[in-house]
Amino acid sequence: MAPRQMIRFLLNDRAVALSDLGANDMLLDHLRLDQRLRGTKEGCAEGDCGACTVLVGRLGAEGLIYEPVNACIRPLVTVDSCHVVTIEHLRGQDGGLHPVQRAMVDHHGSQCGFCTPGIVMALYALWMERPHPTESQIERALQGNLCRCTGYAPIIRAALSMGDHGTTDPLLEEREQVAETLRGWQDGARVEVAKGTSRAILPASVDDLAVILLDHPDARIVAGATDVGLWVTKFLRDLPLAVFISHLDELRAITDTGDTLAIGALASYESARAPLLAHFPHLARYWDRIAGWQVRAMGTLGGNIANGSPIGDTPPPFIAMGARLVLRQGDTRREMPLEDFFLDYGKQDRRAGEFVETILLPKPAPDTLHAAYKLSKRRDEDISAVAAGFALTVTDGTIRAARLAFGGMAATPKRATHTEAALTGQPFTLDTLQRAAKALPQDFTPLSDMRASADYRMTAAQNLLTRFWHETQGTPATLEDAL
Ligand SMILES: Cc1cc2nc3c(=O)[nH]c(=O)nc-3n(C[C@H](O)[C@H](O)[C@H](O)COP(=O)(O)OP(=O)(O)OC[C@H]3O[C@@H](n4cnc5c(N)ncnc54)[C@H](O)[C@@H]3O)c2cc1C
Ligand code: FES
Ligand code: FES
Repeated sequence: MAPRQMIRFLLNDRAVALSDLGANDMLLDHLRLDQRLRGTKEGCAEGDCGACTVLVGRLGAEGLIYEPVNACIRPLVTVDSCHVVTIEHLRGQDGGLHPVQRAMVDHHGSQCGFCTPGIVMALYALWMERPHPTESQIERALQGNLCRCTGYAPIIRAALSMGDHGTTDPLLEEREQVAETLRGWQDGARVEVAKGTSRAILPASVDDLAVILLDHPDARIVAGATDVGLWVTKFLRDLPLAVFISHLDELRAITDTGDTLAIGALASYESARAPLLAHFPHLARYWDRIAGWQVRAMGTLGGNIANGSPIGDTPPPFIAMGARLVLRQGDTRREMPLEDFFLDYGKQDRRAGEFVETILLPKPAPDTLHAAYKLSKRRDEDISAVAAGFALTVTDGTIRAARLAFGGMAATPKRATHTEAALTGQPFTLDTLQRAAKALPQDFTPLSDMRASADYRMTAAQNLLTRFWHETQGTPATLEDAL
């Protein structure tokens, strides 16, 4: 089948077809400049503030799902066959204010109003799922929305009451019709579009992706674009040729194979949350500290690993859990322990034309104690200064095996092998953990940067072992316990 040389999507209640676009074009610019839908705001243009939040509805294996995304870093080409819903489309059953808008007005949830469309859209996504959310569900939904003037108390009060103003709206009632339109557009074709010197390709399938990457090993893979999008909007870099893969459902699947969870590289933080936490409950608190809802809906686990960042949040706990990575090049696959993928700063063991296909997580053994920690300046939507994952196998009071991995402590996510050796074969006591922590400087020489000083990083990382001990004993750590 010949490639389709245009994208088509539903924008609120209209079909849009575009052929003059490349890899650098972002959804927000299209909305504001081409469509003149200026209700969606540009605050930071780097995915942080949520002022540009819109909903993107996608037809997947689970049916039609709407997710909040940051339009500023969402590549336009990736809304092919999707439904984009902007603030202009919101209305109540009577054509007046939507229940979320009514609640915001009644509770004085807006002052200058700049953040308000983004907050309303994030709350709209929450209202669709849970018209009567709890306060913690609201806080989680708004982690990716910054308001500088109202303060969050009135916004939270508004969110608590939004379901009282109604639990349905015209969009929910049109859902079947929207799904029908999107289904009609699924033609199984590869999409190739270009503008100037920038080309964008949407592969027809994972096999097609493998072929494209063999033909164009220099092409930039773009999954959720929560890193790559910023190269364009913040660093003003051009993407001459990019292969966008976020629509490939085959690579999103999470499969339970008995003793292992096989996670497709395109699973997003949000889609992986429930299956992951069902098997690894120790990740619950950690997971909700990653970014905000919009970035968690877009960002993928494969992207978080493939970018090779020393401060990516998934590698430390996954390495501790014994994760293995499956890479694919053409029809050839190879598998490696996750820690071996990270060779040096900015250098990963990925060959030309190869892509990350699957992350394999062995299910936890009953005698293994797991923990994951993230230390950052802000609780919400902040990058780690130090991240850590621990897995200690303890039988009859003795540590039989130890896997400790850290982020933010070296040029790559890395295991603490000296510290692991100091733990192995020793009695599982606070004294053992604190003595082993003294080996950590043999494993790491952290840097000072804007997130933390080298001293802070080392001391905090050592103290995490003390915290781990207390948590396993059900007692809170005190300052006196700190090294
Ligand atoms: C506001 C904000 C907050 C953030 N907060 C956090 C945070 O708390 N913790 C954290 O760890 N990160 C955070 N990030 C960073 C980012 O969200 C993650 O690293 C994310 O997981 C990247 O995934 P992606 O799919 O968006 O990657 P992309 O941006 O699409 O790609 C990232 C890199 O990986 C490559 N790539 C992607 N998928 C594959 C694949 N399958 N095979 C081979 N190469 C591939 C791309 O070519 C690119 O080099 C944040 C980002 C933003 C904008
Ligand atoms: S403009 Fe701030 S997240 Fe998009
Ligand atoms: S109302 Fe002004 S930034 Fe939120």
